[in-house]
Amino acid sequence: MRILGIESSCDETAAAVVELDGMGATTRPRLLSNVVHGQVEVHARYGGVVPELASRAHIRNIQPVIDQALRLAGIEPSALDCVAVTAGPGLIGGLLTGMAAAKGLAMALDRPLVGVHHMEGHLMSPFLDPNAGDMDFPFVALLVSGGHTLLVHARGFGDYRVLGRTRDDAVGEAFDKGARLLGLGYPGGPAIAALAEGGNRSAIPFPRAMPGRTQLDLSFSGLKTALRTFLGHHPDKQTDAGWRRDVAASYQEAIVEVLVTKSLAACRESGERRLIVAGGVGANRRLRDMLAERAERQAVRVYFPPLALCTDNGAMIGLAGARRFLAGQRDGWMLNARARWPIEGLADQRD
Ligand code: KG4
Ligand code: ZN
Repeated sequence: MRILGIESSCDETAAAVVELDGMGATTRPRLLSNVVHGQVEVHARYGGVVPELASRAHIRNIQPVIDQALRLAGIEPSALDCVAVTAGPGLIGGLLTGMAAAKGLAMALDRPLVGVHHMEGHLMSPFLDPNAGDMDFPFVALLVSGGHTLLVHARGFGDYRVLGRTRDDAVGEAFDKGARLLGLGYPGGPAIAALAEGGNRSAIPFPRAMPGRTQLDLSFSGLKTALRTFLGHHPDKQTDAGWRRDVAASYQEAIVEVLVTKSLAACRESGERRLIVAGGVGANRRLRDMLAERAERQAVRVYFPPLALCTDNGAMIGLAGARRFLAGQRDGWMLNARARWPIEGLADQRD
């Protein structure tokens, strides 16, 4: 079957065409196209995503992005079997835009519409990678981006348990806000990572928020405050390049160490030996290195899907939608966008 996946829940307007022959464990989807239109330039001067500006950009971009996805796939719209769209959670303006486009297309083509949970989409990213080998459920997923920070136990398709989540800022925000305090650009993650190169990671003992080691929730707002306070105490050093490198390296280390410790604790708690890392923060080199090293000691296999597949995209929504379609899900024209939608509720909706 061929399915169009549409994603617009945050600051990416995306559409992709995915082909899937069946649901067997070894059946790998084929990506016929994967178009992502980002909005970094729209939000850069605000240092983070501005919902109203995001909505307007989605309205401008949604139709060209869908058209391009179909064109690159080399198919006529009538060759689609189904249209899948992110129904939530996310920013409501963007969700409604994607939903309206999906409904219009499905209605015009007389094809079924399938609403997809954005996070279930993210959990599909390893299956989109043709080089993922025997990757399959069950696994633990660390989903880390500008919008989410979540540890999920994915026991099977549709069967997810949240093991931990951030209590305040998303980890990407911790990077973005930290970068702003350091006078760096947006997005802040790559900027901090670049500045941290060659810096002393233990120069400044920034706090590791570990509310009880057995707890898997995370928190980053205290760390951000600690950075602000620290910078405020050293106004004379702000132009010292070596000092700035040490600050960035120490700040990054505090974030990464918490992510690694909690992810591996989540594997221990759930008894899983497979960990996938998805989301923009997964690009962080220090995170990759520390996780690889510590996971090996615990006999956990860590898998990082290619970045283009694990940051927001339409392919993951297409694949989740295809699997839901094959499992019998059909959504009517009354399908609603949901800004909030717990991923654990999906298990109750099966069959
Ligand atoms: O998944 P993503 O591309 O998009 C959304 O959140 O919508 O994630 C973006 C986040 C930003 O906060 C950015 O600062 C962070 O990922 N990021 C990084 C790195 N590259 C991107 N954080 C740390 N290290 C990086 N190398
Ligand atoms: Zn996302």
